[in-house]
Amino acid sequence: MNITFYGQACFLIEVAGKKLIFDPFISPNKMAAHIDVDKIEADYILITHGHEDHVADAERIARNNDCPIISSFEILSWYGAKGLKGHPMNHGGKWDFDFGTVNCVNAVHSSVLPDGTYGGNPMGFVIETAEGCFYHAGDTALTYDMKLIPMLYPKLDFAILPMGDNFTMGYAHAVIASDFIECNEIIGCHYDTFGLIEMDHNKALTAFNEKGKNLRLLDIGKPCTL
Ligand code: NI
Ligand code: MN
Repeated sequence: MNITFYGQACFLIEVAGKKLIFDPFISPNKMAAHIDVDKIEADYILITHGHEDHVADAERIARNNDCPIISSFEILSWYGAKGLKGHPMNHGGKWDFDFGTVNCVNAVHSSVLPDGTYGGNPMGFVIETAEGCFYHAGDTALTYDMKLIPMLYPKLDFAILPMGDNFTMGYAHAVIASDFIECNEIIGCHYDTFGLIEMDHNKALTAFNEKGKNLRLLDIGKPCTL
C-alpha cells in the first residue's frame, strides 16, 4: 500500500486501486502549506469524527472528486444537507466496499461539527483488504476496547495511532495501545500541528524501539510504501 501523510490525522492510502483519504485537514495546517488540496485525488473520504482538525477540507475534496464520505450517521447527515453523498455507519458495524471492508471501532474522545452540530460518537476504522489490514484509530485515549481488535479482525499490518497527548493519548500510552492491538508497525499522528500537541520525536521513537516496535513519523507529503 502507498501511504502519504498530509499532517495531523490526514493520510491518503492507496489500496486495491482506490485512493482513501482519512480526516482531511490540510489547508489550515501551516505544516502542510506545501500541499495543494485541489491536486488531491480521492475515491473515498473517511472521517473519524467532526472536529475541525479532521474535516476542514472534506467538503472541498468531496466536491473536487465527486467522491463519497464514509463516517458516522450524524456526520453523513450533516454533509448530506450540503448535497454531498456518502455511506453512514456506526460502531460495531461493517460494510463491504470495492476496496475492502470498513469496520467502525470505538474511540474515546468527543465529536462535534464545526458549526456546533452533534457529530455522533467518534470512531476508529479497521480496514480489511486483499492487500492487508490496517487500523486508523482517529482521536482517542488508550482504551481497553483496543484489545477487541486482534480478537475480531485479521492481523494488522500497520496501525495509525495519535500520540501528541493533551487531546489524545501520548506516545507512552500509544506504546501500550500497540500491545493491545498486537501490532508492531506503527505510524504516528496528531502531534506537532499546534503548541498543545508538540511531541519529542526522539523520546517517542525510543519508547517504541525499547519495546521492539517500529514507529514511523512520516514527512508530510512524501509517499511511502508499507
Ligand atoms: Ni478531535
Ligand atoms: Mn483532533
